[in-house]
Amino acid sequence: MPSTQPPALALRAIEALGDPRAKPDVRWLTSLLGGSGAGVLRTLGEAGRFVHRERVLRRAHLAGGRENYAQFRAPLELYTLIRLLRPSHAVETGVSSGVSSFHLLLGLNRNRAGTLHSIDLPLVQSTPVLGARESPVAVPPGRSSGWAMPKISRARWDLRLGPSQVLLPALVEEIPRIDFFLHDDLHTPAHLAFELETIRPKLSPGAVVLADNTQWTGTAFPRFARRLGVPVRRRGRSDLVGLRVPG
Ligand SMILES: C[S@@+](CC[C@H](N)C(=O)[O-])C[C@H]1O[C@@H](n2cnc3c(N)ncnc32)[C@H](O)[C@@H]1O
Repeated sequence: MPSTQPPALALRAIEALGDPRAKPDVRWLTSLLGGSGAGVLRTLGEAGRFVHRERVLRRAHLAGGRENYAQFRAPLELYTLIRLLRPSHAVETGVSSGVSSFHLLLGLNRNRAGTLHSIDLPLVQSTPVLGARESPVAVPPGRSSGWAMPKISRARWDLRLGPSQVLLPALVEEIPRIDFFLHDDLHTPAHLAFELETIRPKLSPGAVVLADNTQWTGTAFPRFARRLGVPVRRRGRSDLVGLRVPG
């Protein structure tokens, strides 16, 4: 049976990003994707290619006054899911500085296939320096969603700015299928339920659906999983959860 320890190259990438919470959870990925886990380990090992870019991402956060900042705690898992699922259409809600978008795009660029559709209603930081009482998800003055992302081809990025309540239904109408979805915007039970119901008709067989910060979203995700007849896969003891649509 393959190890459940992430490869050393993945750990180097996480060290460069500067957030120990982001150590990849091999068990979670394997439970989401099925199989032996060998592909997961091999793909996580590719993170050695972007150690430098993780360092650049960290520096951008530090320069923006975000000391212990990684908005999304499972960045290499996102990369791995994209590499192994090879989605045509990946959708995320909630961009902020761009940790999740960056890792999703890294995967799509390496696949040389697929589009990332991101929706974000940016919260704007009120002063040039992040105030102690201000949300770290706010975007610094003069910058836009994804402001901390290192230089990378954005040709596969379809970034849409505005409320997901309006933009997500329009996007779902427009695209033929959704092979990957990440909810990371407004964490309320009603909003998560709305997003999941909105994407449901376009979810492709075998699609992966993730939701972060589910400690605030009540039973919305487990109800959705029950409706699809699949288990909820929780990342360790965190409140980042996922499921796989039946194939
Ligand atoms: C937790 S942050 C996203 C973090 C991001 N995924 C990352 O990896 O860094 C949440 C983002 O969702 C945005 N947001 C909040 N409510 C929203 C809504 N109704 N529609 C779209 N975006 C929203 C916030 O302004 C913020 O940029």
